[in-house]
Amino acid sequence: MELIRRPRRLRQSPQIRNMVHEVDVRTDDLIYPVFVTEGEKVKSPIASMPGIYHYSLDQLAVHLKEVWEKGVRAVIFFGVPDHKDACGSGAYDPDGIVQRALRLTKSLYPDMICIADICLCEYTDHGHCGMIRGNEILNDETLKLLSKAALSCAKAGADVVAPSDMMDGRIGHMRQVLDAEGCQNTLIMAYSVKYASSFYGPFREAADSAPAFGDRKTYQMDYRNCREALIETELDIMEGADIIMVKPALAYLDIVRMIHDNFDLPLCTYSVSGEYAMMKAAAANGWIDERRVVMESMTAMKRAGAKMIITYYAPQIADWIREENK
Ligand code: PBG
Repeated sequence: MELIRRPRRLRQSPQIRNMVHEVDVRTDDLIYPVFVTEGEKVKSPIASMPGIYHYSLDQLAVHLKEVWEKGVRAVIFFGVPDHKDACGSGAYDPDGIVQRALRLTKSLYPDMICIADICLCEYTDHGHCGMIRGNEILNDETLKLLSKAALSCAKAGADVVAPSDMMDGRIGHMRQVLDAEGCQNTLIMAYSVKYASSFYGPFREAADSAPAFGDRKTYQMDYRNCREALIETELDIMEGADIIMVKPALAYLDIVRMIHDNFDLPLCTYSVSGEYAMMKAAAANGWIDERRVVMESMTAMKRAGAKMIITYYAPQIADWIREENK
């Protein structure tokens, strides 16, 4: 038999495979989520997310040193405040926990890209991402508070604000407020395509942000839908988003691919808490090779079209990449 085309020729040695391969995960692509909390000497583990902790600011400083030295250059902060109320005032308190974390991080590592997740759910006593009236999640009333939160984080040093609430019109509102206050250079990374997902389970335990009633389906997207993602992204871009995002990641790579092919802005995907928990649990049982499964998953996200990946594995992956390049 005479075979003209032999794809296996390109796979015959590691050198040839390395020469022709298409996609790499780089440490520069990674964004590391960090939970910050009140108090001192707090480093409390999150049961469903082995290796992930709540850090008080003094412990954050210790952890950041490690993260910086591994080569991770972007962090996204989530606040776990002591105090919650109906209007989530901790989110826009100039001395809120995330605002203080931003000031501290910028003072220690001015070149660390500091991203502030902007949402009310960690700060509201009802756990929803917006203001409520009865059982209704109010849209327009929420925008002002989100913009206030974004502005206070920008003033505290955030390079990027990342609204994760899924209210309509939030990007445009936020852009105007930021610009009016002299924050033209603050980037907006929009959680443009955020599905109502059960993969957020461990995060809600970590952030103590599970909704007290109902669910998030009136604002987060229905996972049975695909084309809606185009509308959401188009709106965010028209309103001024600099970076767009698809969340979750692994079960949504079709959406990542679609958004990548339709829009030209840098695309981020968020490998969420449930994805991390599943890989950690299987690894702890010896059922998968953690390093290989994680790297394969991250590579798949990049192959689908993501430029950046938010992942709880970021520092670990940075180690693996460094070892690989030795
Ligand atoms: C806040 C927010 C959530 C996540 C990021 N920002 C939770 C939610 O929407 O319920 C989830 C992150 C994760 O699961 O890792 N709205």
